[in-house]
Amino acid sequence: MKPPRQFFKPLAIGAPAPMRDLPVRLERMIHFVPPHLEKMRNKVPDLIREVDVVLGNLEDAIPADAKEAARHGLIEMGKAHDYGATGLWARINALNSPWALDDIVEIVAALGNKLDVIMLPKVEGAWDIHYLDQLLAQLEARHHASRPILIHAILETAGGVNNVEAIASASPRMHGISLGPADLAASRAMKTTRVGGGHPDYVVLADAKAGGAPDGRAAFQQDLWHYTIARMVDACSAAGIKPFYGPFGDFSDPAACEAQFRNSFLMGCVGAWSLHPTQIEIAKRVFSPDPAEVAFAKKILAAMPDGSGAVMIDGKMQDDATWKQAKVVVDLARLVAAKDPAMAALYGV
Ligand code: GLV
Ligand code: MG
Repeated sequence: MKPPRQFFKPLAIGAPAPMRDLPVRLERMIHFVPPHLEKMRNKVPDLIREVDVVLGNLEDAIPADAKEAARHGLIEMGKAHDYGATGLWARINALNSPWALDDIVEIVAALGNKLDVIMLPKVEGAWDIHYLDQLLAQLEARHHASRPILIHAILETAGGVNNVEAIASASPRMHGISLGPADLAASRAMKTTRVGGGHPDYVVLADAKAGGAPDGRAAFQQDLWHYTIARMVDACSAAGIKPFYGPFGDFSDPAACEAQFRNSFLMGCVGAWSLHPTQIEIAKRVFSPDPAEVAFAKKILAAMPDGSGAVMIDGKMQDDATWKQAKVVVDLARLVAAKDPAMAALYGV
């Protein structure tokens, strides 16, 4: 096992020291841009104002013959703009692909001091993180980067789910993990062709005794992703990194997208991917706390200034644990308010 002190030493001479804490940033939606398309790159200045994270996607959905154009497009859009408080991320190709090495080497050379996070797909175990961790340190040293680029893993293989705790705690460079339901479904041989969301056949029937005729029994659709999201949230929270729901592929069903995002938010996720402009608003709505919840949470914090003891508010018992829940909600409201004056007014923070 690696001795604790070693974790915070740079992995290459001249590389920046690993971060002890994650930067405090609002990351409600990670907005995917296909950077080989000039029309899409032209939208980046508006996106920087509108979204929390702009991600240049180099992996799946980018045709094999456009991989290099996408990499160059990402470098161009990274250099062209000031991203301010908006995150600049890249999803590179998988480590076993013919493109990953050049993705990493060229992106760090060009954007080493601008890129916040590299999203790594198809992570199977801690060894994938260790490889990228070491290589990034060497490149950061070579290019005189002043702060470390963080790593965000996609949880999208059965092996990855088996190893999710080890992945989450593999390095201080770990930023978070996103669920990748499409690849994960394929990896597990799940019988669905959808990108996230539920399936009409994954149901529990009402009890035969209670429900009358066999055909008339109520069927309750269950959440196919509950188990994986729960494991991911526990692994991330225990390691002090951030869990995210990933993509929702059916752009024609915003209500189902919102339900999937909201379930993940309630379970502890801090954001999701937006693959279509309509999903930006959905993510904003879902991953910003409800003003009524914020108002109630502020009452709890005000009633228990040192966070201990027990009080009754509106007939509900509050104690040290609900104080901590209230603090999560109010801290998030403050982050949202700093980006969005309209929400600041609603929250009164
Ligand atoms: C995302 O990459 C997924 O496979 O769902
Ligand atoms: Mg995938």
